[in-house]
Amino acid sequence: MEVLFNRPFITGREIHHLTEVARSGKFSGNGPYTRLCHDFFERRFGFRKVLLTTSCTDALEMAAILCDIQPGDEVIMPSFTFVSSANAFMLRGATIRFADTGADYPNIDPVSIAQLITPRTRAILVVHYAGVACEMDAIMDLALQHNLLVVEDAAHSIDSFYRGKPLGGIGHFGTFSFHETKNIISGEGGMLVINDERFVKRAEIIWEKGTDRAAFSRGEVNKYGWKDIGSSYLPAEIIAALLYAQLERFDEIQTLRKKIWHYYYNGLKPLLEAGLISLPGVPEWATANGNMFFMVTKDREKRMRLLSFLKEKGIYAVFHYLSLHSSDFFSPKHDGRVLPNTDHYSDCIIRLPFYNEMKEEEMLYVVEAINRFYLTQV
Ligand SMILES: Cc1ncc(COP(=O)(O)O)c(C=O)c1O
Repeated sequence: MEVLFNRPFITGREIHHLTEVARSGKFSGNGPYTRLCHDFFERRFGFRKVLLTTSCTDALEMAAILCDIQPGDEVIMPSFTFVSSANAFMLRGATIRFADTGADYPNIDPVSIAQLITPRTRAILVVHYAGVACEMDAIMDLALQHNLLVVEDAAHSIDSFYRGKPLGGIGHFGTFSFHETKNIISGEGGMLVINDERFVKRAEIIWEKGTDRAAFSRGEVNKYGWKDIGSSYLPAEIIAALLYAQLERFDEIQTLRKKIWHYYYNGLKPLLEAGLISLPGVPEWATANGNMFFMVTKDREKRMRLLSFLKEKGIYAVFHYLSLHSSDFFSPKHDGRVLPNTDHYSDCIIRLPFYNEMKEEEMLYVVEAINRFYLTQV
């Protein structure tokens, strides 16, 4: 049997919506499908304002502009994240200070954040890894105390919650990804959530190449022009149409994905109980949204052996993230602090195959292979 890591999910409504775009002749961005998607997210999660973007990377770049980062401003974020979280701020000249994750879960540790705050700190970026919430009360308290902006990199976190509040809706900004490995997809795609009224107007301008074209298309101004810096962050209507096809089946997708997550968890629990692996649990303040399933091996060597064992069986599991503080690009700029929890997760995490239409026999095959590895190979 072959079990791929990811299989993008097609809902069956894509062709209908793409044909509608072609028939309407409205191909560029901020058209009817973009508005349908915006309405969906604003109604469903109560977000103050959302803007679709061409990726989470672009949403992060917009957030960095909105934070008004100036060269030399410091931004605190986890080292255990994707490069885009850091690049977006480095593009604005920020100095990145990497915090460690907690020991119990690969999310940024508020204690590590507090140790890095200086008079030059301007913002904190948090990543809700695998859709599980960071300790937002502690982080928002720190931000309030030191007058800092908070960006939630919620790339993994659609439909996940912190004490009942939707992730991406707690900090000043939230950024989401609709890349084809995420819960809902448009190939490449993303979204910026603006939770603070002060930034709403400027966000729309940055989104539309630094112009007030969005206000113009609502009839609020009779011509549009250059108002600010900005770029082409809005997606074409075909991307929004693809995303809308997914939103029509959002609940069904979420049910499928949560089922897979629970199947893996139950299937691997005996290894957890035997102390052979760890399965970082969902804290009482958080929810699991079926974004991905990951397990943690004891050490790097065991991870590499398990990955190749699975590959021999036709199972394509992967690892990530390579910690950013020790990357080729950043390590010469890093201040030398050791980040032990980050290194541990970077060395030991395995992400298992995960896609909406995974059959039970495929999940069973993966679970049995991992159990067999620990019974026979260790
Ligand atoms: C935490 C995090 N932030 C940002 C991104 C970038 O998302 P995108 O591919 O939509 O630009 C990713 C990619 O998966 C990610 O894991």
